[in-house]
Amino acid sequence: MKIAIAGKGGSGKTTLTATLARLFARRGRQVLAVDADSNPNLAASLGLSAAATPSPVPRDLLVDRTTDDGKRITVLSMPAAEVAARYGAIAPDGVRLLVMGKVAHAGAG
Ligand SMILES: Nc1ncnc2c1ncn2[C@@H]1O[C@H](COP(=O)(O)OP(=O)(O)OP(=O)(O)O)[C@@H](O)[C@H]1O
Ligand SMILES: [Mg+2]
Repeated sequence: MKIAIAGKGGSGKTTLTATLARLFARRGRQVLAVDADSNPNLAASLGLSAAATPSPVPRDLLVDRTTDDGKRITVLSMPAAEVAARYGAIAPDGVRLLVMGKVAHAGAG
């Protein structure tokens, strides 16, 4: 099951996400929580310390390819499960957290 939580600023998205993630994990579900906010703070809401918060997934995991019929596509350079294992951190109740989407620096475009 995949659940995406989006909505108005300050409406409680991160709080609800962390609560759902931990409750599902407590009930025995395998939970992968993805913080795709450009200003991420799901780690703190899950109960991770700043030191235990994972670094964002590097953007160069995405590579451009051209298919046999000439279409340009963007794909992960490794299986998604490997991305989760390599870049995720384990939060309370066994939730695995991935941080992605953080803005690395200001720039054009
Ligand atoms: N059900 C609730 N009742 C009262 N306060 C709440 C509730 N849920 C969240 N809050 C508080 O509201 C504030 C905003 O919550 P939260 O950070 O989860 O929102 P958000 O939608 O993720 O915000 P942002 O758009 O900045 O990412 C926090 O101070 C949080 O503690
Ligand atoms: Mg938030």
